[in-house]
Amino acid sequence: MESTATMRFDVLTLFPEMFSGYLGQSVLKRAIQAGLVEVHLHNIRDWAEGKHRQVDDRPYGGGPGMVLMVRPVVEAVEAVQAMGTPGRVVLLTPQGRRLDQRLVEELGRQPRLLLLCGRYEGFDERIREILDPLEVSIGDFVLNGGEVAAMVVIDTVIRLVPSVLGDEQSSQQDSFSGEERRLEYPQYTRPPEYRGLAVPEVLLSGNHPAVARWREEQSRKRTQERRADLLAEPPRDINDESRQRRPASN
Ligand code: ADE
Repeated sequence: MESTATMRFDVLTLFPEMFSGYLGQSVLKRAIQAGLVEVHLHNIRDWAEGKHRQVDDRPYGGGPGMVLMVRPVVEAVEAVQAMGTPGRVVLLTPQGRRLDQRLVEELGRQPRLLLLCGRYEGFDERIREILDPLEVSIGDFVLNGGEVAAMVVIDTVIRLVPSVLGDEQSSQQDSFSGEERRLEYPQYTRPPEYRGLAVPEVLLSGNHPAVARWREEQSRKRTQERRADLLAEPPRDINDESRQRRPASN
């Protein structure tokens, strides 16, 4: 299905230069040039005050590291929201809902996402209270900041924008896509034999129903062996508040 709607991302970060290599890569570059995707970078420091344009400060109550200040972050988000039809604010944090293909699909249904990248020990809690963001984690590990996570979100979401991949079929065949989340079957290309390892006969047979059966079987087997958890996961929804809002503790 063709769609002319543009998916818009606004990234709020202290390190916009981290995105230049990523934005220049071929899939994204073509999508941006074709008007399918827009990515706008904003430096949170542009909303900071004073000679030093300070964006972080020591935590009240003591402790290590620095905390992102509420004022520049909230005012940056509000100014960026005013640059178009307001979008959903996504805060990248290891405390967020873990990103999976289902969440990617939910994010992909939003016309505009504001990706808020943190640094340092974290965000002043009032940022959460004021902006009520959807908090997203890309996994149970701690990055040095949200930028790499924001790139992961953009990268996974744009695969679902019609025409971005050129071949609309291919994202639908990805592992984890569709209703049944399964790992992909093994793929082969030329040559038919290498170091004594032959491509499975069925793939060379030209028998399409047999190929489809083999792939289905391999996909099921691989998922069972490697990620049996995927076969048991309950459905989730972006509007399910109980999963978005975390308990008050950090
Ligand atoms: N910022 C730091 N660690 C992160 C993670 N795992 N996911 C998203 N944002 C992060």
